[in-house]
Amino acid sequence: MVSNDIRTTFLNFFEKRGHAIVPSAPLVPENDPSVLFTTAGMQPLVPYLLGESHPSGTRIANVQKCVRTGDIEEVGDKTHDTFFEMLGNWSLGDYFKEDGITWSYGLLTSKEEGFGLDPKRLYITVFSGNTDAPRDEEAVAVWKKLGVPEHRIYYLEDNWWSPGESGPCGPDSEMFYDITPEGLGDLTHEEFIAADDTQQVVEIWNDVFMEYEKKDGKVIGKLAQKNVDTGAGLERLAMVLQGTDNIFDTDLFAPIMDVIRGKMTKDNKRAMRIVSDHIRTAVFLLADGVRPGNTDQGYILRRLLRRAVRYADMLGMDADGLSAVAEAAAIGYENVYQNVVEQKNMIVEEIRKEEEKFRSTLEQGMKEFEKILARSEKEISGNDAFVLFSTYGFPFDMTSELAEERGFLVDKKEFEKEMDEHRASSRTASEGKFKGGLAGTSEKTMALHTATHLLLAGLRNELGEDVHQAGSNITEERLRFDFTYPEKVERDILDRVESFVNGAITQDATVRMEEMGKGEAKAAGVEGSFWEKYPDTVRVYTIEGKEGAVYSRELCGGPHVEHTGDMGTFRIKKEESSSAGVRRIKAVLG
Ligand code: SER
Repeated sequence: MVSNDIRTTFLNFFEKRGHAIVPSAPLVPENDPSVLFTTAGMQPLVPYLLGESHPSGTRIANVQKCVRTGDIEEVGDKTHDTFFEMLGNWSLGDYFKEDGITWSYGLLTSKEEGFGLDPKRLYITVFSGNTDAPRDEEAVAVWKKLGVPEHRIYYLEDNWWSPGESGPCGPDSEMFYDITPEGLGDLTHEEFIAADDTQQVVEIWNDVFMEYEKKDGKVIGKLAQKNVDTGAGLERLAMVLQGTDNIFDTDLFAPIMDVIRGKMTKDNKRAMRIVSDHIRTAVFLLADGVRPGNTDQGYILRRLLRRAVRYADMLGMDADGLSAVAEAAAIGYENVYQNVVEQKNMIVEEIRKEEEKFRSTLEQGMKEFEKILARSEKEISGNDAFVLFSTYGFPFDMTSELAEERGFLVDKKEFEKEMDEHRASSRTASEGKFKGGLAGTSEKTMALHTATHLLLAGLRNELGEDVHQAGSNITEERLRFDFTYPEKVERDILDRVESFVNGAITQDATVRMEEMGKGEAKAAGVEGSFWEKYPDTVRVYTIEGKEGAVYSRELCGGPHVEHTGDMGTFRIKKEESSSAGVRRIKAVLG
């Protein structure tokens, strides 16, 4: 079954069972500074899992784009990737274990309505219980009722899913599929663990029964409602349904791998997989507005691209080979993610520019790296790693990987100290911009982001404290900002808001970031929406004038410009309705 059909089969199955189909949220969370990227289907839904009512109801299904770079070292094996699509169905206080499990099993095994997988190749793991929650015998009863034999259900302590240290969480049932040609038959618990380690069985779906809440790493009790959060990785399902033993041979990766194959002069399976994965992720990040930079999302993108360049070199690809790889990755999503295909030229150009920038220092950097190795004993100092970063553009983990290949370590602590000092000194620099050898390419975006904060503060001054952010989207050209307000905002008010923002710009206000406790931030009157979604330590951005006037104080993950002076003139181009009780403003800096 081709991947397009997998998506539609999934969505149709749940639509028939009363689920509203919602589009994927962007890869950069709109209202959640606690994470850089959407890393799971549940992330954009956190407020609704916690009890807020979702405009589309209590049953939702979607295909969510996700980026996870925590396992970046694993990329190159059969199943790991940094970008993936997560198929999910959601009960927001509606159905629970019985329906959740029955439908997962039905979709996986039904020949008529689903994927028609062989039930004899299916293995299930469930939560074994601890002091937070009991052994999940309730889930096991449902699995058994469906015909899964008890000896193919394994109790594990790890079967607990939470998005991080705080948030909704709960026990889960994970579904594994045997991908060996001959089939493994019945496995003992130990044999199952071994088969998982060797990727003979592969996890294809996870049903999380979210009825608990975690705070600072501790389960603190039950939520007001019982939710189901399921996640099936599209790439892994494709692998199983297309009879391949790895995700890179599926139709999602094959066209990208083919381009690499045609351009390489040295064979290296792991390097091929890394290049195809990293470029595909970069394509999606660029399409969602991220640009290579030195902080936050921009830095992750830069790391992925620079890592791809290094592995492309290992394959002996032409200097500009990555453009063709990016093109193939973008074209593969025609009719699925139109924004990727529509922005293909920009994406390819950004990748080309970043590659060129990196290549201009890569060779020199490698020479420097060799010199450093020659004078180091087993460990590269943090200062040397910092020089490789600031002068030659080597991301830390690239230095660390290069070092590891040669049996060396790198002093990460010292590197981070150097980075902190560097950031502090560049903050006070007169231009107010990051002054490393790698000045970010997304200053325009950062300026628009800072303007968004000023805009919200201006709106709140004019329209009152009930105005909060409801959504935000920034491109290189403009900002789009949604906020809670029941009626049209007249032009004279918009003019006053504009003057407020331009006032802060002409003042050359300073943008300062600090971390503080959530309670403290709330008490200090810091502006933010969805407080419950944030971790206990939050980032607060303050925009402050020379005389100490505070223009804006808001929860945010950044990045921002450090001074407002060079931002240009702020203009509100349009004010319109977005949805019930929400207005939308489009504005530019010119
Ligand atoms: N949140 C779970 C996961 O990411 C299921 O969607 O695996």
